[in-house]
Amino acid sequence: MKREFIFLGPPACGKGTQTSKLAKHLGLPHIDTGSLLRAEIKSGSPNGEIAKSFIDKGQLVPVDLVGNIIKDRLSQPDCDNGYILDGYPRSVEQADKLDIINKELGDAKFMAIFFDMDHDVLISRIVNRRSCPVCGSIYNLKYLPTKIKGICDFCNEKLIQRKDDNEETAEARFKTYFKETAPLIEYYKNKNVLLTLDANGTIEEVWQRLLKLIEA
Ligand code: AP5
Repeated sequence: MKREFIFLGPPACGKGTQTSKLAKHLGLPHIDTGSLLRAEIKSGSPNGEIAKSFIDKGQLVPVDLVGNIIKDRLSQPDCDNGYILDGYPRSVEQADKLDIINKELGDAKFMAIFFDMDHDVLISRIVNRRSCPVCGSIYNLKYLPTKIKGICDFCNEKLIQRKDDNEETAEARFKTYFKETAPLIEYYKNKNVLLTLDANGTIEEVWQRLLKLIEA
């Protein structure tokens, strides 16, 4: 049966870092709404313009706009055996929308993984994050530096900093998270599909815990 994982947690808790490891490990596509929306912005489309105005303020992009992007992506043949959703759903309204999409595309074995962690280190992770515009690898000036300063280890490209990775927008993203996304913890607990991951510690420590959780 098709397997569907959704990764849930506050900004910079390590969802993207761990999803890309798990996606390689399980041979499933990593579907990251933040990256899909940033690609839409880069394309200069009208939807990209709308998305930008919300992302720059640290707010959620309108539910139908994201829902349509996700539905298109989940309809691709590489999702036939399952996928890992990183950053979707982010509100109860989006979770209901995902249920509808799943009914249309064929049910999957569903697991929601909540990244539970102390919030005091998250701002430092955000302002120090850098990423590769070509291969999407994520680094951190403090916690995961590149071999050559400012250059991607894999494709030698110059790293970039996301526009929303500044302190002011990050604070707004945390407010949005607590208001809109945190209620999903209870939502999925009530459906008996929530697994909680202790996301404190190094990338390797969290990875080992994630593997154990999924294998169990
Ligand atoms: P998005 O791009 O999804 O941002 P986010 O949810 O805020 O999550 P992040 O990407 O900031 O963090 P992450 O948990 O993936 O952490 P990472 O692994 O990179 O969304 C951006 C915006 O798009 C939203 O604000 C919203 O406007 C819009 N949007 C997205 N989805 C939407 C939706 N469904 N609906 C509506 N709008 C939507 O790690 C962070 C840093 O820490 C990295 O530098 C990494 O190297 C480092 N790190 C990771 N793990 C560790 C560790 N264990 N120890 C030390 N450092 C670590």
